[in-house]
Amino acid sequence: MSIIETLKSRRAVRNYEPHEVEEDKIAILLEAATWAPNDRLREPWHYYVIRGEAKQRYQNMALEYLEERFPAKPNLVKESLTVLQNTPLIIVVTSDVIPGDEASSEDNEYAVCCSIHSMWLAARELGLGLVWRTRGIGLVRDERLNRFIGSPENRKVIGTIFIGYSSSETPNTKRMSFTEKTTWL
Ligand SMILES: Cc1cc2nc3c(=O)[nH]c(=O)nc-3n(C[C@H](O)[C@H](O)[C@H](O)COP(=O)(O)O)c2cc1C
Repeated sequence: MSIIETLKSRRAVRNYEPHEVEEDKIAILLEAATWAPNDRLREPWHYYVIRGEAKQRYQNMALEYLEERFPAKPNLVKESLTVLQNTPLIIVVTSDVIPGDEASSEDNEYAVCCSIHSMWLAARELGLGLVWRTRGIGLVRDERLNRFIGSPENRKVIGTIFIGYSSSETPNTKRMSFTEKTTWL
């Protein structure tokens, strides 16, 4: 498949088969992610791999968050937990924050976004499904997730990546024509 075909056929995959992702495939994903472009080769990413017992702890943390955030929506809490239970692998990705250097810190975040996209495309090649989550059970903006990964100083969480073997047909999404998003000056 050409790069352009891969780009166009990449989808957010949210439902997975109940089996683990092999460690060698996780390594390929992570290695691909580190080849993303990054300003001044700061390589500003860090990946926290969560599975097995750590995933159980993630679930407990998410349950606490969901019950606090949606006290009147027990069904939503239950469904969200089921999604977590059915996700074999979670990777939290952070970006290095450079104290006193806002511009470089921002550039680091852009690089980490590229890194996550690389991982997404690599997953496609490996036959894995992946979705980048920030909201809800992605917990990206919740302080609990920082504590969960050990409260590393000067690392900002950019994404929580859910990965597994796809269990269902993923619906196609559409994009507007680039002509509507482009101004030729
Ligand atoms: C920064 C970012 C945050 C996202 N957060 C979520 C999320 O919290 N939950 C979710 O289900 N999908 C999330 N997604 C996936 C998008 O919803 C998905 O890419 C979009 O629906 C388009 O579908 P496609 O990627 O299959 O074309 C996120 C994607 C990006 C880039």
